[in-house]
Amino acid sequence: MDRKKVTIADLQKKKETGQKITMLTAYDYPTASLVDQAGIDTILVGDSLGMVMLGFESTVPVTMDDMIHHTKAVVRGTKYGFVLGDMPFMSYQISIAKAIENAGRFIKEAGCDCVKLEGGTEMAPVVKAIVDAGVPVCAHIGLTPQTATKLGGFKVQGKDAESAMELVQSAKDLEEAGAFMIVMECIPDLLGEKITRQLSIPTIGIGAGKDCDGQVLVYHDVVGLFERFTPKFVKQYINLSPKIREALIQYKEEVETGAFPGPEHSFAMKKGEAEKI
Ligand code: KIV
Repeated sequence: MDRKKVTIADLQKKKETGQKITMLTAYDYPTASLVDQAGIDTILVGDSLGMVMLGFESTVPVTMDDMIHHTKAVVRGTKYGFVLGDMPFMSYQISIAKAIENAGRFIKEAGCDCVKLEGGTEMAPVVKAIVDAGVPVCAHIGLTPQTATKLGGFKVQGKDAESAMELVQSAKDLEEAGAFMIVMECIPDLLGEKITRQLSIPTIGIGAGKDCDGQVLVYHDVVGLFERFTPKFVKQYINLSPKIREALIQYKEEVETGAFPGPEHSFAMKKGEAEKI
């Protein structure tokens, strides 16, 4: 297929012409290849990998080294998609210098195209500093999983007028600070639509309604590979876990009964050599 790698200008153009932007997460080489072959515009190496790949209860324990390791694999599997590296908890909060250094690692070591970080107005100076240092930043507002405890748990944000207005202000401040795109997680669809209309940069929704400029979901949720829980905003397009389990049980049975490997999976010696051993 003759496709060019997606750029920030392409994403901006999609917003301006009303074409929806697609985003999925990926955390490894084979998944990134599949997502890329499907023609998804943007691939997020989300810190959700802490939960769906590493088995943690939340995204909080994920480290910069975890993120760099997974992002490198995703970049190797991607030819076309625009790759976002998700800055993990405490990689950008301690100081602006540390935030710039860690954002730089995503670009220099992992080879991705931009970073994403969570937070509202309070993160605008960090976004500005990273952008000024030459690294494009995607912001993330609404339900921000790294600080879910502070938000009172994994809850829809911006349900009353006051908190909704705060989110509108955050989105504007982050755009002003230089963010080129903004993820909005778990907010009422009406608020998703209002923010999308008021910003000139693209918005990507996850549980933020259909009027965002694009949508993102976690790969494992979309293909049924994460069985611990499924948020309301997820649509599962295929349920792979039972199918994989079935295949693995069949493999176990065939090994135990001797049905596998068959002659078609085995190698013969050269003619006349078998007698010599
Ligand atoms: O880490 C992640 O996968 C994310 C998405 C849910 C937006 O931040």
